[in-house]
Amino acid sequence: MSNKKESADTSTNSAWGGRFSEQTDAFVEAFTASVQFDQRMYRQDIAGSRAHAKMLNKIAVLSDDDLTIILEGLDKVEKEISSGNFNWSVAREDVHMNIEARLTELVGDAGKRLHTGRSRNDQVATDIRLYLREQIEFIINEIKRLQQGMLDVAEREAATIMPGFTHLQVAQPVTFGHHIMAWYEMMKRDVSRFTDCQTRMNMSPLGAAALAGTSYPIDREFTAKELGFTAPTQNSLDSVSDRDFAIEFCSDAAILITHMSRMSEELIIWSSAQFDFIELPDRFCTGSSIMPQKKNPDVPELVRGKTGRINGNLISLLTLMKAQPLAYNKDNQEDKEPLFDTVDTVLGCLRAFADMIPAITCKHENMYKAAKQGFSTATDLADYLVRKDLPFRDAHEVVGKAVAMGVSTGKDLSELTLEELRRFSDKIESDVFDVLTLEGSVESRDHIGGTAPEQVKLAIALARKQ
Ligand code: ARG
Repeated sequence: MSNKKESADTSTNSAWGGRFSEQTDAFVEAFTASVQFDQRMYRQDIAGSRAHAKMLNKIAVLSDDDLTIILEGLDKVEKEISSGNFNWSVAREDVHMNIEARLTELVGDAGKRLHTGRSRNDQVATDIRLYLREQIEFIINEIKRLQQGMLDVAEREAATIMPGFTHLQVAQPVTFGHHIMAWYEMMKRDVSRFTDCQTRMNMSPLGAAALAGTSYPIDREFTAKELGFTAPTQNSLDSVSDRDFAIEFCSDAAILITHMSRMSEELIIWSSAQFDFIELPDRFCTGSSIMPQKKNPDVPELVRGKTGRINGNLISLLTLMKAQPLAYNKDNQEDKEPLFDTVDTVLGCLRAFADMIPAITCKHENMYKAAKQGFSTATDLADYLVRKDLPFRDAHEVVGKAVAMGVSTGKDLSELTLEELRRFSDKIESDVFDVLTLEGSVESRDHIGGTAPEQVKLAIALARKQ
């Protein structure tokens, strides 16, 4: 007696069970299923089915009646799913077969005709593209909201003086607005990367079928247009097998989260007692269960931490793709969880940042005091001497000696007397104090990309226009 279940029993896989003589092992059934996670693409899957059905009707493979019945049935299935009244079945393996099987339950034979001239291989390649295309839209919108917040902070703090660092050592004074606009620029390139990725992925694999195309006279231009794709993909083998678009998306996400991790690091340092440059709003921090005084910068810390999983997801996809022969292999089912996790994580991090950044407050005095330490205007003194005709290398030497005196006497350059300064060069005159101040230093960097408050305002205005 055969182990095969009756065809009426929907718990066995009626979609491909024909050539099998025993039932799938219960564990293997669960092990190979993807419905637990790919069900989130149900809207895209149904949209793909609508387009495919309309195309089959256009080329007279599907009757008008069948098309009407299928479209009504798909509407019903979509409503069942979106209202939470859909019975997802692991035995039906994935989102594609769950929807098709339910459609067939609802409308009968017409439902069985829907899969003519297509395969789950081109179906899934289509669904992921449609899904990612939309998620990229959400991500870009959220980055833009964050950028808007950055512009507001930068505008408010365009003239706020703080130390600029290299090697985390005080280097030259900058404005806080300038620093925030550096973050803005990083985000701008992230938007452009995601836009690129979206454009490149927006091609329709539908019609590639399992791998070689189909013997029906399908109209791939029609389905591409119907689904808002730019055009059909050019090669059927490539269409169903490559996941480079998902890898590209994850690498864009890795670069984005790397930027956000760097920002997080700065927010964490700045809000420590040792720096004390900024205050994060209480609603974005948490306390300690043992140390009553603590206010921890959890949100930036978590964002920095989540960089690990985003980078990990990218490596997962690269590794899963590596060494796969053409065309589709089941390995590719493993693309979804890292991909979905990347989408969710990035959207969460962006949301937290977009809410938090406009709400940070600056401690102006502390920033100013820190900028005064560490001889941050030493370069300005060297530039001053160059303007008085000393070669830069000699000027560097002179200022180095002045700094050494400052170190031994515990004074900033601006606190040395004219007489003391003139010991190092008689080219130094009383106007030197204009350049030794922090204000004079930042104001003098008055060119495209410089830290002068006027330039920062220009950069903000340009950004707002764009
Ligand atoms: N669930 C599968 C995936 O995510 C759909 C394609 C399955 N195709 C196949 N021939 N087994 O990739």
